[in-house]
Amino acid sequence: MEDRKESELKNFCSRNILIILGFSSIVAVIALIAVGLTQNKPLPENVKYGIVLDAGSSHTSLYIYKWPAEKENDTGVVHQITECKLKGPGISRYAQKLSEIDIYLTPCMVRATQVVPQSQHQETPVYLGATAGMRLLRIENERLANTVLIAVARSLSKYHFDFQGARIITGQEEGAYGWITINYLLGKFSQKLNWLNLKPNEGSALETYGALDLGGASTQITFVPQNKKIESPSNALHFRLYGRDYSVYTHSFLCYGKDQALRQKLAKDIQGTNGILRDPCFHPGYETVMNVSDLYSSPCTKKFERTLPFDQFQIQGTGNYQQCRQSILQLFNTSSCPYSHCSFNGVFLPPLHGDFGAFSAYYYVMEFLNFTSEETPSQEEMTDTMEKFCSQPWEEASCPVWSPMQGPNP
Ligand SMILES: *[C@@H]1O[C@H](CO)[C@@H](O)[C@H](O)[C@H]1NC(C)=O
Ligand SMILES: *[C@@H]1O[C@H](CO)[C@@H](O)[C@H](O)[C@H]1NC(C)=O
Ligand SMILES: *[C@@H]1O[C@H](CO)[C@@H](O)[C@H](O)[C@H]1NC(C)=O
Ligand SMILES: *[C@@H]1O[C@H](CO)[C@@H](O)[C@H](O)[C@H]1NC(C)=O
Repeated sequence: MEDRKESELKNFCSRNILIILGFSSIVAVIALIAVGLTQNKPLPENVKYGIVLDAGSSHTSLYIYKWPAEKENDTGVVHQITECKLKGPGISRYAQKLSEIDIYLTPCMVRATQVVPQSQHQETPVYLGATAGMRLLRIENERLANTVLIAVARSLSKYHFDFQGARIITGQEEGAYGWITINYLLGKFSQKLNWLNLKPNEGSALETYGALDLGGASTQITFVPQNKKIESPSNALHFRLYGRDYSVYTHSFLCYGKDQALRQKLAKDIQGTNGILRDPCFHPGYETVMNVSDLYSSPCTKKFERTLPFDQFQIQGTGNYQQCRQSILQLFNTSSCPYSHCSFNGVFLPPLHGDFGAFSAYYYVMEFLNFTSEETPSQEEMTDTMEKFCSQPWEEASCPVWSPMQGPNP
């Protein structure tokens, strides 16, 4: 079983994976939808704007898009003109302090009122799409999740934009948006729409890239399988884009974003300790104390929940990459599969096909390890760098931009 997993991992890693600069997967697509929505209206100006708030589990960003009102040959070309990061955690963390949501949203919304010309405000759509952080809150407490969305909606409707709604998007939508966005950016739908000039191979325009998205609370994999058969309906998406039909496989793994996966790992590993966890996934010399109740507050740790003889536990880093990897692998259950082929936890996965683009936290981590500037590094190089980095004493490794406990943990 382990061998199979290893060889599949190698197989996967030897694929061409393009690490794409950080971008928000939901946004460009929503802006594209906006192109569709507004195209039939009479147009007083020849430029249109759209505002999208991407509410991730650990933070929210506001993006402003701009596109020519007369779509060139019926194809919208959308450009991002502004990104504004909201100060503070993800919106799900405002469940206990609803009155602060307005203050949280204000600076970036005020910025939007300045960037979008005043004459266009009334016809500029504003959307907010929330992802896995809010999906988890909805599992814990649906009423509270709705209250947060209502408070967000109330705050966003105060501006003189065309507020279109604030909602939690599904994992399938999130997967689809990421896939559409990277293929749009790579010019896979139409050669002309190549924003980033990432130079797709001439002639391979019909081959789309698969999308790998690593968030804080969930992770998505989306690609066009070679064999059209998708054995589980919930993993199948069909859509028509730019005159072509696509059958896409997608899955969103809730609780397998980097922050929630870490929580799962800790909840698994503190079982059977005396309240001191010597953990290979933290640098040697790193120490921190966590409340068991905070760890157990996420639905992601439910299956590891035990009555423990302590309320707090201490993490002591030992910094060992290989041991950490083994510990993380235990979160992937490959013991049973009701389909011809699974990824893990009994989730259907068709044979991998084509090249992949990896973004969000995949990008942030690779960027941190200095792997984004040159040619795609080999897996050996990456492993080597990570082994060295993980064994560095915390004193040496710590710097203000990087903390392993960053994220939704207090
Ligand atoms: C749009 O269509 C016209 C006529 O078919 C063509 O001449 C023009 O090059 C097209 N524009 C682009 C940007 O493809
Ligand atoms: C643990 O919980 C206590 C009481 O709820 C709180 O005061 C403290 O800040 C928490 N500690 C950590 C490390 O989060
Ligand atoms: C893995 O999944 C199987 C089947 O769902 C289950 O019986 C088993 O307990 C799981 N193993 C772990 C380690 O969670
Ligand atoms: C990445 O490069 C910068 C500048 O060259 C260096 O300071 C930093 O230590 C490198 N990071 C890692 C993880 O190697």
